[in-house]
Amino acid sequence: MIVGLTYDLRDEYLAMGFSEDETAEFDRESTISSVETTLAQLGYQTDRIGHIKNLVDRLGKGDRWDLVFNIAEGMYGEGREAQVPALLDAYRIPYVFSGPLVLALTLNKALTKIVVKDFGMATPDHAVIYGPSDIPSVNLPYPLFVKPLAEGTGKGIDPDSVIDGPEQLEKKCKELLVRYNQPVLVETYLSGREFTAGIVGTGDQARCIGVIEIILKDNAEKGVYSYVNKEECEERIIYSLTDQEAVDACSELALQAWKCLRAEDGGRIDIRFDHQGIPHFLEINPLAGMHPEHSDLPILAGLNGIHYRELMKMIMDSAVKKVKNIVHA
Ligand SMILES: Nc1ncnc2c1ncn2[C@@H]1O[C@H](COP(=O)(O)OP(=O)(O)OP(=O)(O)O)[C@@H](O)[C@H]1O
Ligand SMILES: [Mg+2]
Repeated sequence: MIVGLTYDLRDEYLAMGFSEDETAEFDRESTISSVETTLAQLGYQTDRIGHIKNLVDRLGKGDRWDLVFNIAEGMYGEGREAQVPALLDAYRIPYVFSGPLVLALTLNKALTKIVVKDFGMATPDHAVIYGPSDIPSVNLPYPLFVKPLAEGTGKGIDPDSVIDGPEQLEKKCKELLVRYNQPVLVETYLSGREFTAGIVGTGDQARCIGVIEIILKDNAEKGVYSYVNKEECEERIIYSLTDQEAVDACSELALQAWKCLRAEDGGRIDIRFDHQGIPHFLEINPLAGMHPEHSDLPILAGLNGIHYRELMKMIMDSAVKKVKNIVHA
């Protein structure tokens, strides 16, 4: 079976003149080569495609693949993560991970929270700031937490994201609106323990493969799993197995969120406790990082005894069912 690889390679964008911040979500060469090598070990023939414009060129030339392993995050537009799967759908080429509906919805953290809340899950109350005139109408109790509406990898998140009063709220929201040129999500600040849960599979076949606690070391930026803490996770973060009670509560919430959002094949849900120890949904990552040592999903799988190759096999076994569906359609 020929598996195409779609991805945004960070070095390629840096060479084009994009900044470190603009390319923070994109993948390192070592991630792509790990995925490629592991797919080969699992018996798949691989073909590197790269970003969406390469995909368009290749499709135009008539190239096709049995399946595409898609981890392209996209550069432009509020549907940036949905673009590759939408294009592949048009050509009836099946792909690994979620489709355009899920990837467009979940890139918007506020709309995702509304859906999750409607299914009865706990998630912090929120407001969305589209422009400076929206700031005075925020009517939530402090402390608050602010972050860009549609980013990942901790972009725009640092200890100043925790907001204690209106002046700080105005300053930080204005700064984020300008810097990221997108709305700002304001949420109630959750002060409790933090976890991330890994899911593999789709629908009824989905299962939680592990929950880990994110523990900040003394030299980490305080109170948040920030951009700097993520980038320097080897020095600043302890990824830890945790007590069964927390594992059960987080896996239940994560699996429920995964199923209600109809995410596919594999990914992560981020969860934080409030001051009473009640788990809240923070966000879902249906395109979770796949670096074997640096990304949270492989790290949590490893801590739960699932090696990288086994994780990749679980994800591929889920995705391959889509190939069969198309063949028999
Ligand atoms: N409402 C909140 N209360 C407390 N902390 C929060 C809240 N929202 C986010 N955080 C902190 O900020 C971190 C990053 O937030 P979030 O997971 O939404 O961002 P991200 O950049 O999409 O992350 P990822 O790298 O997982 O894609 C969380 O892991 C958590 O430490
Ligand atoms: Mg997160």
